[in-house]
Amino acid sequence: MSIIKISTTPFDDQKPGTSGLRKAVTVFQKSHYLENFVQSIFDSLPELKGKTLVLGGDGRYYNRQAIQTILKMASANGVGRVLVGCDGILSTPAASCLIRGNNAYGGIILSASHNPGGENGDFGIKYNVTNGGPAPEKVTEAIYQRTLTIQEYFILESADINLSNQGSFKLGDMDVEVVDSVKPYIELMESLFDFDLIKKMLTGGQFKMCMDSLHAVTGPYAKAIFEQKLGATEGTVINGTPLEDFGGGHPDPNLVYAKGLVDILFGDNAPDFGAASDGDGDRNMILGKHFFVNPSDSLAVITANAHLVKGYKDGLAGVARSMPTSAAVDRVAEKLGIDCYETPTGWKFFGNLLDANKATICGEESFGTSSNHIREKDGLWAVLFWLNILAVRGESVEQIVKSHWQTYGRNFYSRHDYEEVATEGANELVNQLRSQFDTLVSKTYGKYTVQYADDFSYTDPVDGSISEKQGVRIGFSDGSRIIFRLSGTGTKGATVRVYLESYEPDSNKQDLDTQEALGDLIQVAEEIAHIKKYTNRDKPTVIT
Ligand code: G6P
Ligand code: ZN
Repeated sequence: MSIIKISTTPFDDQKPGTSGLRKAVTVFQKSHYLENFVQSIFDSLPELKGKTLVLGGDGRYYNRQAIQTILKMASANGVGRVLVGCDGILSTPAASCLIRGNNAYGGIILSASHNPGGENGDFGIKYNVTNGGPAPEKVTEAIYQRTLTIQEYFILESADINLSNQGSFKLGDMDVEVVDSVKPYIELMESLFDFDLIKKMLTGGQFKMCMDSLHAVTGPYAKAIFEQKLGATEGTVINGTPLEDFGGGHPDPNLVYAKGLVDILFGDNAPDFGAASDGDGDRNMILGKHFFVNPSDSLAVITANAHLVKGYKDGLAGVARSMPTSAAVDRVAEKLGIDCYETPTGWKFFGNLLDANKATICGEESFGTSSNHIREKDGLWAVLFWLNILAVRGESVEQIVKSHWQTYGRNFYSRHDYEEVATEGANELVNQLRSQFDTLVSKTYGKYTVQYADDFSYTDPVDGSISEKQGVRIGFSDGSRIIFRLSGTGTKGATVRVYLESYEPDSNKQDLDTQEALGDLIQVAEEIAHIKKYTNRDKPTVIT
C-alpha cells in the first residue's frame, strides 16, 4: 500500500454554508471535488495527525463511496485512528456522542440533513470539532480558503474496507475501528431519561405512539430504542429502514414533508403521540393526537418541565434560542430566573454557551432542540424528552401545551418559506428592506407600530466574536416581530424565510388558528417587503 499524490485544481464553490458543504450529488461526483474538500480539511487542521477522527453519515446515496475515499485520504494524511459507524451509518447526534465519548479530535459527518437524497439529490460533508459540535466559522473559513488554493491531495492506494461488520483493521499506518452506530447513543439516552417509566407507559396498553423515520438515519436508532428497549409494539417506527434516496421523499420533519405522519396523527383512531426526524437525525417534529407542537413551543415546554426529567432535575444553567425562534422560552427562563441567550441561526452558535455552561438546553424554530449532552441538535432526544414528560404528567400533549400557554401566554408563531426563488430577487428583497430601516421606525400599520428595524448582529459572550447581518428584524411596540432571512442550507437558487410572531396573553384568545391569528402581521410583511414581487410567487411553498 503506498501513498499517492494527485495533482488537482481548485473549485471556487466550496464555501461551507450554515451546516457544512452541501451540493448536488452530481457536483460531488465531479472528479477531485470531494477529495479537494477533504484534503482542505486535513491541510487546515494539521493537528489531526496521529489523532482520532470519527466518520459516518446518514446513509444517503454516495455515503459509502465517500467514506472509502475519506478513509484512504485520512490514512495518507497521517490520522492515527478512525472510528467509523458500521455500514457507514452515524446519525449526526450519534457522531457528536462518539466524538465526545472517545476524546476524538474531530469528526467528519456526511449528510445534507433534510435535503432530498439519491442520485439526483444532495450530498454534504461537514467537519465537527473536539467538543462534538459543528466547526466554528474560523475553522470552516480556513478550510474554504484552502479549497481556493489547493494543488494536490494525498490518498492511500488500497482496497476498500469492509464496513458491514464491527472490528478493527489497519489501513496503511492508520487504525480503523468499525463501531456500533447505535449502542453508545442509547446508553447516553438511558443516562438522561427514565426508561423504566417510559416503558411502563408504552406497554400499559393505553398509550400509543408513532415514530416516522422518513426512511432516513434514525430508523435503526428508533427501532432499538422504542421497540426493543422501551417495549413499544412492532410497527411503532414507520419508514424505519434507511434508504439511499429516502424513498424519494424529502426527509424533513415538518407538516408538509412528513405528511404521512400528520395524516395518521390527525386521522381517525390517531395515536396519542407522533414524532418524526430528518435525514441525519438531528431535527424533530412533535405531534399529539390532532395537535401540532410548534418547535418554539416545544423548546419552551421542555424547558418548563425539565425538572421532571432525570438528567435535568438539578436545574438548568440557562437556555438559548436562535433569533428567529419565538420568545416563548424567554418567558419560561424569566420565571425560572435563568439566562436566555439569543444567537444567530445555526447550531454552531450554541457550542460556546454549552461549553461555558451558560446554557443547558438550546433550540431553534427549524425543528431543532438539544442540550449539553452533546453538541448537536438531537431529534430522538427531543422525542424521549417529550415521552418522559408525558409519562410523568399523565396528560395529553395538547393538555400540556395548552396549560403552558395559560401560564405563560401564547406566542403565535409561523414561518413562511419561499423556496428555490431566483437569487437576485431574494437579495434585492433583503437589500430594499435594509434601505428602509431608518424610515420604518415609528411607522404604523393598523395596530402595529414599528419599534425597531435592523440587521441582527451577535457578539458571542464567550469569545467575543461578532457575527453580523444574521437576519433582518422588524419589531413592533406590542412585542410582535417579523424576521426576514435567506436560508443558508439550500442548494438551488435562494430560499426566503419570513418568520412571524405575536404574543397573546389572554387565554380566551389562544385557541385561534395560527395563520388567522397572524393574518394582519402577514399582510404587514407583504406591505413592507413586497415578497410577492421579489420572489415572483403569490404564496409560500412551505408554511410551518
Ligand atoms: C441547519 C442547522 C440549524 C439551522 C438550520 C437553518 O439545520 O443545523 O442549526 O437552524 O440549518 O437552516 P436555514 O436553511 O434557515 O439556513
Ligand atoms: Zn439535520
